[in-house]
Amino acid sequence: MSLIALLKPKGPSGFGYGSTAEKVTAGLSLAGKTILVTGCNSGLGAETARVLALRGARVLGTARTREKAEAACAKLGGGATGLACELADPASIRACVAAVHQDGAKIDAILCNAGIMALPRRELAFGVELQFFTNHVGHFMLVTGLLDRLADDGRVVMTSSGAHFAAPRPGVVLDDLGCERGYNQWRAYGQSKFANILFAKELARRFAGSSRTANAVHPGVIATNLGRHMNPIARLALAIGKPLVLKSAAQGAATQVYVAVHPDAAKISGRYFADCNVAKPRPDTEDPELAQRLWAATEAIVARLP
Ligand SMILES: NC(=O)c1ccc[n+]([C@@H]2O[C@H](COP(=O)([O-])OP(=O)(O)OC[C@H]3O[C@@H](n4cnc5c(N)ncnc54)[C@H](OP(=O)(O)O)[C@@H]3O)[C@@H](O)[C@H]2O)c1
Repeated sequence: MSLIALLKPKGPSGFGYGSTAEKVTAGLSLAGKTILVTGCNSGLGAETARVLALRGARVLGTARTREKAEAACAKLGGGATGLACELADPASIRACVAAVHQDGAKIDAILCNAGIMALPRRELAFGVELQFFTNHVGHFMLVTGLLDRLADDGRVVMTSSGAHFAAPRPGVVLDDLGCERGYNQWRAYGQSKFANILFAKELARRFAGSSRTANAVHPGVIATNLGRHMNPIARLALAIGKPLVLKSAAQGAATQVYVAVHPDAAKISGRYFADCNVAKPRPDTEDPELAQRLWAATEAIVARLP
C-alpha cells in the first residue's frame, strides 16, 4: 500500500485512491452481463478483465492480435472471448465490430482502456498523429460501430488520464492533427487523452434522455508497460517512487471498473472520474462546441480511411 493510499481520505462514493477493483465490486454479481474491454492483455486492462470475470461477467477482451486476446481471455473463464482489435488499423477495428455483431450479445459496458503514451518521435497513422489515432480515433470507430449492440442501460467508459492537463490550447488542435507544426510527446499524449474526455461528453450528450451513460476516467499513476517509451531516468524515478506514491494495477483498475458496473454510477453521465469519484478535469473540457467539432472531424477522418 503506497503512502498516498494510506493518507488520502475516501470520497463521497465510499471509495478512494487506495480502493481496488475487487473492493469496488465486492458483493456485486455481474452474472448475465457482457462487457467489452480493450487492451485486455496488459496492465489495467488485464486487471479490469480479471475482476469483471471474477464477478461473473462475460468478458469480450480485445488486444492487438487474436493470439494475445485469446491467451489473456483463456485465463479468465466465464466464457471470455478474445478478439483482435488493432486500434491503428481500421480493417482490424471493423472486423472486431463485425465479430461482436456476429456474437449477438448485447453489450452492457464498453471500456476503452487500450492506449499508448509519449511516443518519442512523431509517428503517423493515415496522416494523424499515432497516439491520437490509437487512443481516440480507433476507439471512436469501435464505440460508434457498436452502439447498436449497447444495452439500453449500457455504459461507455473512456480511460483518459490526468495527462490531459498537458494538452495544448484548445485541448485538441483540429487543424493540425498530424502535428505538422511541432511535436511534443507529452502534449500529443495529453491531446489524445483530452479527446477521450470530449468524446465521452459528446456521447453523453447524445445519450441524454436514455439510460445509457458515457464517462471518462483518470486511473491514477501506475507502473505498467505504458511507460515503455519513457526515457530510462523517468522509468527509474517511477520504479523508485512505486512503493511510496504509485497505485498498484489493482488500484489503477478500480475507477474504470467502478464507473462501468457499480450501481451508484448508473445515472452519472458526461463526467470525469478519478479515485472512484467524480473529479474536476481541465475546465476547458467543458466546451460542447469543441466536443461537437471533434466528433465531426473524427467522422471526416474515418470517412476517408481505407
Ligand atoms: N499506467 C498509468 O499510469 C496510466 C495513467 C493514466 C492513464 N492511463 C491509461 O490507462 C490505459 C491502460 O494503460 P496501462 O497502464 O494498462 O498500459 P499497458 O500495460 O501498456 O496497456 C495498454 C494496452 O493497450 C494496448 N494497445 C496499445 N496500442 C494498441 C493498439 N494500437 N491497438 C490495440 N491495443 C493497443 C496494449 O497492447 P500491447 O500489450 O500489445 O502493446 C495493452 O494491451 C491507457 O489508456 C493509458 O493511457 C494509464
